[in-house]
Amino acid sequence: MKILDDGVRTAITDFCMIFSKRLQGLRRYSECLELAGNQLPQLLLDRSLMTTLVEHIAAGADYPDVRVPTLFDNELLLYQEQSRLFSLRMYLWGPGEYTAPHDHNSWGVIGTVTAGFEVINYRREDDGSREGYARLAAQPAIQLQAGQTASTLPLNDGIHKTGNPGGETIITLSIYGRPLSRGYLQGFNVATARVYRILSPKRKKIALACQALQGLERAEGSRG
Ligand SMILES: [Fe+2]
Repeated sequence: MKILDDGVRTAITDFCMIFSKRLQGLRRYSECLELAGNQLPQLLLDRSLMTTLVEHIAAGADYPDVRVPTLFDNELLLYQEQSRLFSLRMYLWGPGEYTAPHDHNSWGVIGTVTAGFEVINYRREDDGSREGYARLAAQPAIQLQAGQTASTLPLNDGIHKTGNPGGETIITLSIYGRPLSRGYLQGFNVATARVYRILSPKRKKIALACQALQGLERAEGSRG
């Protein structure tokens, strides 16, 4: 594992220590979003720091560490506050790459280093009473310029899809608040109104193993 200039880790840690002090004591989502929305552009517009971070990733350096497990395969953990108060994450988006519509377990502020990042928010129109079903209405797409941010909220109040409509790879940063203990996100198929769970690779393997065990036990039972 290559160790490049460690100043990049220090710069991110310094930002996060200051952010952490300011965030502690804030209770309302609106206050957290305002703080993160005001602070994140400081990193987004630091071209030299962002370039160095991406150089580190490209070179397989020890920070940011591509081996740290994340929910999405284009995601890198830059900082996790010890008590899980917040985390800072980088995302890399190839041309035309989008998430599926999904919700979150926390408040979040999403900002772009590179112009043209797209955010599409959805309003949930059903009452949530039918298991595995959700009717969503897409709101007009928002395209962010370099240094601009958008915000999200937990569960049904923050359903969105994000991605890169352009031809160049985009770099974004997100700050997420303390997560609810649900252990998964919900993904939404807008066309079929189907809701499904998005699990981390680790949780997915465990869930599939449990299902496979149940299948083996059923097969054993029908034989005996
Ligand atoms: Fe998201």
